Amino acid sequence: MKVLTVGGGGREHAAVEALFRSGAEIYAVMKNANPGILARAKEYKLISEMDVDGICDFALEHNIEYAYIGPEAPLGAGLTDALENIGVKCAAPTKAAARIETSKQFMRELVSKYNIEGNLKYASFENAADAEAYLKTLSEEIVVKPIGLTGGKGVKVQGEHLHSFEETMEYINEIFENHVGGAGVILEEKAVGEEFTQMVFVDGKKIVPMPLVQDHKRAYEGDVGPNTGGMGSYTDANHLLPFVNEEDRTEALKILQAIVDAMAQEGCPYRGPMYGQFMLTAKGPKIIEINARFGDPEAMNVLSILVTGFTGLIKDMATGKLKDDVEFANKATVCKYVVPKGYGVKSESGHKISVDMDAIQECGAEAYYANVDTNADGELVTGTSRSVGVVGIADTLEEAEQNCEKALQYVKCDAVFVRHDIGTKELVQRRVDHMKQLRP
Ligand code: AMP
Ligand code: GLY
Repeated sequence: MKVLTVGGGGREHAAVEALFRSGAEIYAVMKNANPGILARAKEYKLISEMDVDGICDFALEHNIEYAYIGPEAPLGAGLTDALENIGVKCAAPTKAAARIETSKQFMRELVSKYNIEGNLKYASFENAADAEAYLKTLSEEIVVKPIGLTGGKGVKVQGEHLHSFEETMEYINEIFENHVGGAGVILEEKAVGEEFTQMVFVDGKKIVPMPLVQDHKRAYEGDVGPNTGGMGSYTDANHLLPFVNEEDRTEALKILQAIVDAMAQEGCPYRGPMYGQFMLTAKGPKIIEINARFGDPEAMNVLSILVTGFTGLIKDMATGKLKDDVEFANKATVCKYVVPKGYGVKSESGHKISVDMDAIQECGAEAYYANVDTNADGELVTGTSRSVGVVGIADTLEEAEQNCEKALQYVKCDAVFVRHDIGTKELVQRRVDHMKQLRP
């Protein structure tokens, strides 16, 4: 089966590996020359992932049947719609369905209209003066979000990033002045608890769950610093998390199924992987965001242990024929992203980086190339975004974390950093203790 893959990050490299293992013939488009994807692709083209016409030409030229689209921006630009118009079946949402991610206002309104559980109090604004008037009426802490896409970096939380009314207004003004996200501001109730990610495969109607994952958005160890696209993530061997029980998970899945049902009813049925970000609070899981794709790094955790053929899943999602028997190995995984110095604030780029894949696999780990590229001298160099994701895999979380650490020694670069605390016993225990305190 010929599959077009769009994107050149760690998530896409993991998807390409899963497609390759299950027999797909891969045709890749991406903006950077990701060496992991290049090694598996029958043909490839280095172009902008936003170049809808260019990607359609490539698909026509190679007679592509199915497509997997990694990042959100091309979904928002209507790439799925354009590919489907030329007969390529997509395991990805149309522009209308991708609004679940591209407009935080659309998501909150949909959840509210269909009385779906897990919503947070919110209000959206088209100008700073209205936002200021509303802010003055509030006593509880809130979260400020640009309504549109910001690559996971636009959210600021009162009490963590914003410490006064003035600081909050300063950020709101900045969003409007600089058109951050391009579509206004949403102010949300601040949910207190522990975050988890529930991703599901969706075929327009049905959802099939993946293992739960916990991502780490803050740039620095100890969960401090600016929000990033995600510094690393882990899954447990039983596919739950040490602080999330079966009941919480059932609740999260009920919410995602209700969203999928609501989208079908609204005339924009959802197909493709869907990502639910939840805050587990004293009152159960609350929706933080819904994304129209796999999470990155979360995709690297789950695709590394996917037993069912991913190629078949792409076909089933695209054609509305998902089956229940999707299998993941009962292994724990810990992923840590090697990122360029300054990432989260102002990244340095263009530094030489090397990855010894064989040595990494000998440690019980996998590595996925992300935002790296080849320079004029043919050397692999870092870009401004995350460089390489390293995933330790083992029977327990503890061993998976150790495997990941051993493997990290085989990624060499002198201008990168890693959050070594991800997946460690201490950090995981802190989550468990926090949840116990909130929910004795
Ligand atoms: P997002 O890009 O929407 O995932 O937000 C980035 C991060 O901000 C999340 O992972 C949370 O840690 C935090 N966050 C977003 N929305 C809320 C909320 N309503 N309450 C508490 N924290 C939030
Ligand atoms: N890791 C968070 C995201 O992909 O949005």
